[in-house]
Amino acid sequence: MTAILHRPSRTALRRLAAVLRRGGVVAVPTETVYGLAANALDADACERIFAAKERPAEDPLIVHVASVTAAAAVAELNPAARQLARAFWPGPLTMVLPKKPVVPAIVTAGLDSVAVRVPRHPVFRDLLRECGLPLAAPSANLFGYVSPTLPEHVQRGLGDRIEHILDGGPCEVGLESTIVDLRTPARPCVLRPGAISAEEIAKVLGVPVAARRVRVLPGARRGKKAGKAQRAPGLLARHYSPGTRLRLVARIEPAEVLAAGRRVAYLFLSRPKDPRLAALGNRVAWLSEAGDPAEAGRNIYARLRTLDEGGYREIIAERVPAAPAFAALADRLGRAASRGR
Ligand code: TXA
Ligand code: MG
Repeated sequence: MTAILHRPSRTALRRLAAVLRRGGVVAVPTETVYGLAANALDADACERIFAAKERPAEDPLIVHVASVTAAAAVAELNPAARQLARAFWPGPLTMVLPKKPVVPAIVTAGLDSVAVRVPRHPVFRDLLRECGLPLAAPSANLFGYVSPTLPEHVQRGLGDRIEHILDGGPCEVGLESTIVDLRTPARPCVLRPGAISAEEIAKVLGVPVAARRVRVLPGARRGKKAGKAQRAPGLLARHYSPGTRLRLVARIEPAEVLAAGRRVAYLFLSRPKDPRLAALGNRVAWLSEAGDPAEAGRNIYARLRTLDEGGYREIIAERVPAAPAFAALADRLGRAASRGR
């Protein structure tokens, strides 16, 4: 079975809204990555998301809504949340807040908080308005694998497990949203870095914003139950990972690449200047032409997938600079390289 790829017409949106109202799942485009969406108020519908992804029940979902008003129906918005909403919604910012009772336990993995975001992808926004429901959606990939940033990625990973994919083209951001825990507004904490930095959030709120360190939580693997309940399972050290071993190094020397065998691939931050490297074909890749973090973010998952499918023994990737603009990229590369499982 192959999922139907729907171009975003009025008719398609109406049809997919009906699928969602009936409790079905639909892969949707967002500005960050593709998501696998279902009615967030319907526990059975959300169960289908977990089944399709082989996602452990301990890993809570993000609820997507069309407006701040719709967010207030699922979460208790405090003044800090409203300030961040004004600054960053619609956009790649997810807020963790106390949940309202309408949200079923399966969505939040039994936690008393819920993660909520107003996305900015125009096609997803049209679908949210058309169905009039809050939509729970994790990234549309098998649990633990690289997130999808193109409809083809969803088709390849989940195409035989779901029926519908809404085509919204390539994702503009390419990395999952920033997740900020706002349950204690005086001490906000970034649980997962994304395109919106902790520094930008701190500037809007006027308080310091902590960044939570990645912890290794063994136990939680695709299709397996996690050992203990996780408060923010996106923090699994190994996540967003290709199957091929990935190793991070401070700098890749051209001489090393030229001397290496054909079964080792290299991933640079920017296009290598040495023309002999570009001539090596697919086993030399780069995230951006000139080291731009936004462009690198857009490309990283597609590059990891292509290299992963190349049959290499190992992928060697260059570390990104230790600057706030690269925090999300550093986080994802670090997890992709982690051997925590
Ligand atoms: O950009 C994104 O956030 C994408 C698109 C589809 O919106 N979604 C996404 O979802 O990345 P997912 O399931 O791959 O990551 C959701 C993560 C969970 O793994 C967990 O870390 C965090 O959100 N999360 C959800 N609910 C939470 C809660 N109540 N408390 C703490 N963390 C929570
Ligand atoms: Mg994910």
